[in-house]
Amino acid sequence: MEYNQNKVIDEDRQGDAVEVQSNNTTGKKLYVESYGCQMNFSDSEVVASIMTNEGYSTTRNIEEADVVLINTCSIRDNAEQRVRNRLTEFKHRKEQNPDLVVGILGCMAERLKKSLLEEEKLVDLVAGPDAYRDLPNLVEEVGTGQRAVNVLLSRDETYADISPVRLDQGGISAFVTIMRGCDNMCSFCVVPFTRGRERSRDPHTIIEECRDLLSKGYREVTLLGQNVDSYRWNLTSKGEVKDANQPTTNFAQLMEMVALVSPELRIRFSTSHPKDMTDDVLEIMAKYENICPYIHLPVQSGNSAVLERMNRGYSREWYLDRIASIHRLIPNCAISTDIITGFCGETDEEHAETISLMEQVQFDFAYMFKYSERPKTLAERRFEDDVPEEVKAKRLNEIIELQLKHSRLSNDKQIGKTVKVLVEGTSKRSEEHLCGRNGQNAMVVFPRENYVKGQYVFVKITSCTSATLRGEAVSIC
Ligand code: SAH
Ligand code: SF4
Ligand code: F3S
Repeated sequence: MEYNQNKVIDEDRQGDAVEVQSNNTTGKKLYVESYGCQMNFSDSEVVASIMTNEGYSTTRNIEEADVVLINTCSIRDNAEQRVRNRLTEFKHRKEQNPDLVVGILGCMAERLKKSLLEEEKLVDLVAGPDAYRDLPNLVEEVGTGQRAVNVLLSRDETYADISPVRLDQGGISAFVTIMRGCDNMCSFCVVPFTRGRERSRDPHTIIEECRDLLSKGYREVTLLGQNVDSYRWNLTSKGEVKDANQPTTNFAQLMEMVALVSPELRIRFSTSHPKDMTDDVLEIMAKYENICPYIHLPVQSGNSAVLERMNRGYSREWYLDRIASIHRLIPNCAISTDIITGFCGETDEEHAETISLMEQVQFDFAYMFKYSERPKTLAERRFEDDVPEEVKAKRLNEIIELQLKHSRLSNDKQIGKTVKVLVEGTSKRSEEHLCGRNGQNAMVVFPRENYVKGQYVFVKITSCTSATLRGEAVSIC
């Protein structure tokens, strides 16, 4: 078993469909299903926006859809298998309704391109992550009996001017994409191939989007990018100013701008990269109460030789130095990570260093995966995927067990404390309880009383499991 197969987006949101009404309806209905990371869920909101502008309304009921789009992930082989199974189900649906348009979006679309149409004949339409503006044309092409493909990657598409249609109406927490693509070449990773070159979004459009969300009742934004620490506006990758008449913006400055939108709007971000995370970002986090004291800092391995083979650009010592900086500047900061077991050539000794790093850092939370070789990546070309499956699994189980212990310890430390929680809604297990997260991103469940969604509430923690804190509300913040 893998512990949480996809980052941050909960397992039970994988495959979620969404529903939004259009004002200028053509009567046509769109069904969108999303897999993968937060970025994909955020992109599906851009897709919904583009299609509702064309007169579509979205539906959660696939039975009534005219167009079915599946936004996909390629990060590990099992992510792709899951989508393939779903596409086979759609194919059967299409046999019953030949007018149904089935399209594949996202990373798998970009990776497999035309082969999904030609060899596998699973879909009518293929659109990569930078081609969503073209979706109305592509759907029209399919309507004229053609199979439609656009997998062009762009150097500057950020969908900055598109106001995403929020798919959780009445929601409290929204994703705001601040950059796209990735210029790192971690040797195991398919993302640079599926998402293209890194590019940052105009900060003013980001601030506008945050203000708009606040006015619609949202109380939390998560700023998204594959490597948020390398966000830069009006700066080249070498740090040179592009246009001397315009201001420049780095990630620390962007966070400060977002923090100043309103003290009522809480800010999160993902993902930080250990090689790029600088103290100026930590200092801004410490300065603003509404920037959550929580950092997701993927380590991948605790051994420097493995990190070198992974092309991560840092060593074990560098990573531990970044952790020390976090503790120094933000003493109450929660830290989570991603770990891959069984990467090419990983020895027992190298694995033991991952364990020892985990012991040293005691992460509050971790997403843990078995290495899955991806076509075209540096690792596929350079190294052999030589750690046997049983060894990968054994190492994975070992780190999962250790992490469960650490997560439990992290939650135990909260007992007796009063924490500030943003109420997200009713608890899954009981109508009588509300749930929400504290700044450190721990899930907190407490009796509903008269509290409501969107409020910040002080909750006194009385008990916990490794996954959840339980307590009683004390007052509104
Ligand atoms: N940009 C983010 C990563 C996005 S992918 C970052 O750098 O942190 C999310 C996680 O999936 C990665 O951190 C890594 O732990 C895992 N992952 C990526 N490629 C993988 C592969 N080929 N096999 C197993 N896990 C992988
Ligand atoms: Fe992949 Fe590395 Fe880029 Fe993250 S930083 S998306 S792991 S290449
Ligand atoms: Fe998956 Fe693409 Fe995100 S590969 S993790 S959906 S960037």
